[in-house]
Amino acid sequence: MPDLGRRSCGALTASDVGATVQLDGWVNRRRDHGGLIFIDLRDRDGITQAVFDPSQAEAFAVAETLRNEDVVRVRGLVRRRPAGTENPKLSTGEVEVAAEGVDVLNRSLVPPFPINVEADVDESLRLKYRYLDLRRPRLQHNLTVRHKILKAIRDFFDARDFLEIETPCLIKSTPEGARDFLVPSRLHQGTFYALPQSPQILKQLLMIGGLGRYMQIARCFRDEDTRADRQPEFTQLDVEMSFVDEDAVTALMEECIVYTWRTAIGVEIPQPVPRLAHAEALRRYGSDKPDLRFELELVDVAEAFAGTPIKFLQEHAASDASRIVAVRYPGGAALSRRDFDELTETAKSFGAGGLIWLSYAADGWKASIQKLLDDATVDKLQTATSSQTGDALLLVAGPRDLASDVAGKLRLHVGERLGLRDPEKFAFCWVVGFPLFERDPETGALTPTHHPFTSPAPGQEALLDTDPLSMRAQHYDLVLNGSELGSGSIRIHDPEFQRRIFEIFGLSDAEIEARFGFFMEALRYGAPPHGGMAWGIDRLAMLACGETSIRDVIAFPKNQTFRDVMMDAPSSVPVDLLRDLGLALKTKPPG
Ligand code: AMO
Repeated sequence: MPDLGRRSCGALTASDVGATVQLDGWVNRRRDHGGLIFIDLRDRDGITQAVFDPSQAEAFAVAETLRNEDVVRVRGLVRRRPAGTENPKLSTGEVEVAAEGVDVLNRSLVPPFPINVEADVDESLRLKYRYLDLRRPRLQHNLTVRHKILKAIRDFFDARDFLEIETPCLIKSTPEGARDFLVPSRLHQGTFYALPQSPQILKQLLMIGGLGRYMQIARCFRDEDTRADRQPEFTQLDVEMSFVDEDAVTALMEECIVYTWRTAIGVEIPQPVPRLAHAEALRRYGSDKPDLRFELELVDVAEAFAGTPIKFLQEHAASDASRIVAVRYPGGAALSRRDFDELTETAKSFGAGGLIWLSYAADGWKASIQKLLDDATVDKLQTATSSQTGDALLLVAGPRDLASDVAGKLRLHVGERLGLRDPEKFAFCWVVGFPLFERDPETGALTPTHHPFTSPAPGQEALLDTDPLSMRAQHYDLVLNGSELGSGSIRIHDPEFQRRIFEIFGLSDAEIEARFGFFMEALRYGAPPHGGMAWGIDRLAMLACGETSIRDVIAFPKNQTFRDVMMDAPSSVPVDLLRDLGLALKTKPPG
């Protein structure tokens, strides 16, 4: 292409001095100063200063009319900025363009929030005017990092002979534990497609189809309750391979995350990535997605309370179904009684009945149950938890799962208060050896800990009849900084075993046939052993960018209540559209 002198707004340096150039961009800022007009011209690449002198009368007259966010094309000569006026913060800060001509390509209304400063802007306003928010450096940076992550992932798998294969979005339900989004069919009235919660069944069918190594950057849809790290529509890296075992999948995915972090953000992840058994993660961190950026491991202290006169502690100390757990709070002895009251309220908000605190101050120990504790118990607790003078302990007692969960959340809370959850630090880990089943807390029925296609640990199939809750899954999660980045498993490829798993979940033969008949049939045509994994790309990009909301790494996200406030979706539709679909509303839409 001939060089027309057209440059990006982030490109010019001292080596361009003397060149005549043309820049296109938005007016980031206009300053009138000493008879001159300075326009900072902005595009995705950066900012260049253009200077308008009254001697160029026509261009100067146009410059006088320019407002922030007008779109212009400037022509002029690159020259050095006068000594002392360089701007080292800009890549172009050594130079400026002496404007000879300017075209206004479009005018802008006054934006509803400033674009040229990193001001805190209410998120609902940012989402309503997302196209303006996207002009700001933060989102431009995040979307650039996201692009680099996707490119690194695609390059990685391409180099290893994987095919990227697109799977359809209008399908029958693939269950991942959420509700399906349904799409009514016009041509087959009264019937519905489901949007995929993931391509799970489809990727398994690709393995049965002999494709061997599949990957996809796939869009998934889940109609679930709102949470900060969830969107109803999100993106997965989805991977599946034939003839592999758990170690082969996790080794490859570990190589991929190391390559992606190195290539996209220039960070080297120490290897090997630590592996924790599920039970160990709960015991040491009170979570199956532990944040390993800091230590503060939970300590079981039931033994210290073996002979306690405090009845409820005595009971929990004696029971295998309970835990008494200590969370160490370094420097916590300096907290006031009010601080401890607040921590107690926090523990209650996590589901605890209450919180016992104990502090090792230089002038002696203090505790919320001062009168009920004795020196010997306090000493035992100090030894068990390796507490120093100046530290405090937060003690949680209760049924095992609840106590682990509350103590795990308190550990994160303490880590947060002490500034130990540094967003620039990346602590990955694998969590493995999950139980295959869990009990639904409401119905008491067995449910899959993940999805119903997960294979049990080798040789454990027979336990299905005798002790299903003791079965382990060939399932693995990749965790980063306390977030579940991805999960995967070796799948069931034996049709008979798959049918029995569906039965355990309470599906009748007729229901299995109606929902999964096609899949059960496919398994009977020589399904190879296979397994894989999926990562949440939005969460991955969020953590890579040091953001705390996945909305900040998605170009057009839904808001906290899963609405698109820019387009106003979901929204009501004209009655004749519904009629075409054979539908009538029972609930009147709002408004
Ligand atoms: P899973 O349901 O664990 O596994 O999903 C994999 C990863 O996807 C991300 N994720 C989400 N991200 C944003 N918003 C959501 N609503 C959301 N839901 C999930 C998470 C999660 O770890 N088919 C299996 C994978 C497999 O077995 O291969 C699956 O979808 O980061």
